[in-house]
Amino acid sequence: MEQFQELLSTNPLLLLAYLIGSVTFILGLKMLSHPESARRGNLIAAGGMIISIFATIFLYQYKGGEGQPVNLHNYVWIFTALIIGTIVGTIAAKKVQMTAMPEMVSLFNGMGGACAMLISLIEYRNPEVPGTGKLLIIVLGMIIGTVSFAGSVIAWGKLNGRVKDKTIPGGQAINFLIFAGIIILSIMVVGGFSASPYLFYGILVLAAMYGVLFVMPIGGADMPVVISLLNSFTGVAAAFGGFLYNNPVMLTGGILVGSAGTILTILMCKAMNRSLKNVLIGSFGGGAKAAASGEAKDQGAYKEISLNDTATLMAYAQKVLIIPGYGLAVAQAQHICHELEKVLEEKGVEVNYGIHPVAGRMPGHMNVLLAEADVPYEKLLEMEDANDQMGTTNVVLILGANDVVNPAAKEDPASPIYGMPIIEVDKADHVIVNKRSMKPGYAGIENDLFFKPKTSMLFGDAKKVLQALVAELKTV
Ligand code: TAP
Repeated sequence: MEQFQELLSTNPLLLLAYLIGSVTFILGLKMLSHPESARRGNLIAAGGMIISIFATIFLYQYKGGEGQPVNLHNYVWIFTALIIGTIVGTIAAKKVQMTAMPEMVSLFNGMGGACAMLISLIEYRNPEVPGTGKLLIIVLGMIIGTVSFAGSVIAWGKLNGRVKDKTIPGGQAINFLIFAGIIILSIMVVGGFSASPYLFYGILVLAAMYGVLFVMPIGGADMPVVISLLNSFTGVAAAFGGFLYNNPVMLTGGILVGSAGTILTILMCKAMNRSLKNVLIGSFGGGAKAAASGEAKDQGAYKEISLNDTATLMAYAQKVLIIPGYGLAVAQAQHICHELEKVLEEKGVEVNYGIHPVAGRMPGHMNVLLAEADVPYEKLLEMEDANDQMGTTNVVLILGANDVVNPAAKEDPASPIYGMPIIEVDKADHVIVNKRSMKPGYAGIENDLFFKPKTSMLFGDAKKVLQALVAELKTV
């Protein structure tokens, strides 16, 4: 509060810029909760961030050698870094594939953690000796920032296949020892038991090791949850930076990222009906392994449907519900999917989409994918609404979804996904499943739905199948 009043009296314009920044962050985050306003919300928050950055560059003043206020002056360094960062960020964001989005988020999140780490390193070396409170903030910011940075880099490597899943023998005990080491060294540094800078650098090394070993054994497929958790760590580390510099906008931004990341992590776990502990030390996500082994329990026969029959069934339906999943993103079939919807609607068929909260590999994956193809937002039904409409739906077309429609989640208490809410497609008259093979999805388990009497399989890559289906429908 004192610092706030000081800023108000010495530099009111800077305080105003920070307040604008803080308000735009809150507004932007609120607007992100609805797809129609999300784009604008993002721009508003980005605008607030730009104002805050430029206000810091040109208005921030620190105490000079004789205690007099001095403006920042190393503009060449600042603008060189800004320009490089802007160019790299813009190119990366423009080039990234939708399926590689979690990877990019992970890397960008790691950069946030690295910034928090660097702030702590620089402030520790500040000639002005920090008091105990400030030292505590510096050490905490460094630990959390470093764990987030190291963990995010491993998560990025796992998502793009550069780092393989690895269970380290005695890994949990090693992690515990490292964690204990971090606590002991931190107490020594903050409590003033030793002034040796090596203890401080020791914390840095241990925190980096902890970040690596913490993420290393977690299944590659669980990375989105881990990234969201690490994202909340970065937010907390940034908030410590806000405390350190009495910077309200950094504090607000950090707290928002920290709490949003935590809430998102909890929501993802809930939607998969798994505890965070199960994600962090569980062995879920053996899809690749199970698929590679080719194991399949005998579930009887499945039936296939031809393109022609699919087109006829859909053209004469009153109500069609499309269930998109990860495979739709892999096939990049969102545009042709929207085309299918338009062709059907021209024939008087009502078409909607049923969106499961964890369909795909990141929160809101299907919403973003379909928004990219200009599918009207009101056509996207949340899982509960989709389930309510199932009884009156004639045809359900599942496009590259598997786990989110697996009835084992309701019927088989022994299943790893038991209890996960699903889209209950078997209540519709006909179910058509498009995928390339009988391989399992992310959870690595068989799907009884494919063998049910109402279900027909339409094999092939989603994009190619939909292109052929649209062509076929035009002839029906
Ligand atoms: P999955 O269960 O992963 O199934 C995707 C299916 O798409 C696969 O069975 C695959 O079968 C098919 N596929 C892949 N490429 C295709 C292509 N080119 N054309 C047609 N089909 C293709 O996906 P889902 O139903 O969306 O479920 C998501 C899973 O991810 C859930 O288990 C969820 O818990 C988990 N998860 C989600 C999140 C978030 S936040 N969304 C985060 C972490 C984990 P074929 O190989 O036979 O084609």
